[in-house]
Amino acid sequence: MIRLALPKGRNLGPVLAALAAAGLAGEEMSEAGLGRRLRTTLPGTGIEVLSLKDWDLPLYVEHGVADCGFVGSDVLGEVDGDLLVPLRLHAGRCRLSLIGKGPGPPTPGSQVRLATKYPATARRVVALRPWGAEIVRLSGSVELAPLLDLAEIALDIVQTGRTLAENHLVELDEVEEVAACLVVNRASFQRHRELLNRWIGRLEAAGVAS
Ligand code: PRP
Repeated sequence: MIRLALPKGRNLGPVLAALAAAGLAGEEMSEAGLGRRLRTTLPGTGIEVLSLKDWDLPLYVEHGVADCGFVGSDVLGEVDGDLLVPLRLHAGRCRLSLIGKGPGPPTPGSQVRLATKYPATARRVVALRPWGAEIVRLSGSVELAPLLDLAEIALDIVQTGRTLAENHLVELDEVEEVAACLVVNRASFQRHRELLNRWIGRLEAAGVAS
């Protein structure tokens, strides 16, 4: 039995689509098939699926409770876990960007407040910029912070750009591309080497990951 952790959020659709394109997901491994169950054994496959919040998923895989899973690189950038990351999916890509009311990024030498769900990534980003920032950690609706002057700028996900447009904010600086990644527990990679290599090979061959 191998335990696969799937993320509940924005990455679930692209992950299931990639698994289906690679011929790795039957009817049961779909949003309808999984329903609201938190653990689902897929009959005849030797796979148990866990449904987890993105932020909890790396911990489950690192502790070996799940053997492997899919999670966004934005979340991986915030955890210290010792995980193997053999693949990034192509679908559902978005970016982490500095956003604000504009017109541009903070001026060199200035000190600002930066709101984000990603404090570790934000510290790395700020270290490379010619301005300084106090990091304000939030857990969602981050765009409100620059909008209501809790912070001058924010570091957040931009996908379609619709949230920015509807809140009259602009992308000041694109920081990095974000992709859903396959993460694997080190011991599990040894134990399930053949199966995992087959999954990786099929995802690559289907052109949905690299
Ligand atoms: C993310 C991000 C933006 C939005 C960007 O929010 O924080 O709010 O998606 O997407 P867009 O460019 O397509 O509009 P998420 O849905 O993850 O929820 P959150 O408010 O909890 O951050």
